[in-house]
Amino acid sequence: MSKILTRQLTDNLYLLRVDDEKTHYFESLWEIPEGITYNAYLLKTREGDVLFDGWKSTFTNELLDTLSTLTSPSDLKYMVVHHMEPDHTGSIRTLTRFYSKAKILVHPVGKKMLEKFYGIPSKRIEIVKNDQTVKLGGKHLRFLYASWIHWPETIFTLIEEDNLLLTCDAFGGYGLPDCVTDLECIPDSYMYSAEKYMVTVVGHYRRNLLTGISKVEQLEYKLNGILPGHGLLWLKNPQTIIDAYKIWANGEPVGNRATIVQVTMYGLTDNLVLSLESRLRSSGYRIRRFVLNDEGRPNLSDILAIANRTKLLVLATGTYEAKVHPLMQFIIEEIKEKIPPTGKNVIIVTSYGWGSVAGREIKSVLEKSGWNIINVIESDLTRGTLPSIQLPLANSG
Ligand code: FEO
Repeated sequence: MSKILTRQLTDNLYLLRVDDEKTHYFESLWEIPEGITYNAYLLKTREGDVLFDGWKSTFTNELLDTLSTLTSPSDLKYMVVHHMEPDHTGSIRTLTRFYSKAKILVHPVGKKMLEKFYGIPSKRIEIVKNDQTVKLGGKHLRFLYASWIHWPETIFTLIEEDNLLLTCDAFGGYGLPDCVTDLECIPDSYMYSAEKYMVTVVGHYRRNLLTGISKVEQLEYKLNGILPGHGLLWLKNPQTIIDAYKIWANGEPVGNRATIVQVTMYGLTDNLVLSLESRLRSSGYRIRRFVLNDEGRPNLSDILAIANRTKLLVLATGTYEAKVHPLMQFIIEEIKEKIPPTGKNVIIVTSYGWGSVAGREIKSVLEKSGWNIINVIESDLTRGTLPSIQLPLANSG
């Protein structure tokens, strides 16, 4: 049984949250042992009700049951689609049939997606413009384009009378927090889960995210709350998650954080990596080491989340079919796409295999993306002594 939670947030706004513990790989990619929530919201007004977003298709029946306790087909006037990714719209086709009078409000790009993804008839869809306001039952719903957070059609809604901003993916997080809002608490592990979510899901669009954040900060209203589509709701101090998202999106390095990612088939890089780890530790670094070998592998989502704010990144890999090992290739590709290089340094450790290929390839790929490579060290079975390397100073914090 999925855990479903409804919570009255204001006189007329409700949270409808489902806890997804079935999804182990978000986007079929990112390991999420902590789970994820899908947060929809229902606004009730004297002139009709508005549903903001929905749940993944797996939970369509549960969403219908939950909604039926709060509204009816004659009362639901609008369904607002902030973002078309199916974790929020997977139930929309069924909802559209059941709530046969409700119009869908969406970004112009989203209209085409609704038609193509779900076969929603055009007459059921109304496009909203940036900064357009829809008035309903004494409420003003102001729509703000937030393109590419996370897809091109993303919008936010500001409920002006309450100064509440509904943001879908932005300011969300992984996890199934026991505390529903920050009025109750911010669970210890939550900020890490939220950073991991930001890096893995929205990290590629960090520039758009920062643009969206500055748009939010320029609103003429002081926000009373941020209501995202995943994770904790921010009703006590929404600035906390805004500030955190800014730091994460900028990938601001933690001064003494070093992250070692090692992919090894036969341990040929072990000696060098251990020597380097010891030297880094004695230079004041706090180290997270991730080893992917024939015994197991850590979560890729954790590697990305920790590397996002690392000051020093050590990438150690063997050579495979005359190239960089495929797992390391994937990690480098994702680091390149999702993590800003500013203020970060890289040391590459490789083992000799079919020529000195791996180090050269990694250096070339990362340098083109603006990463500062401070050394490439090649190992063989007999070599465990580090060459002299000028390490960047570790700062506290
Ligand atoms: Fe939560 Fe981009 O979907």
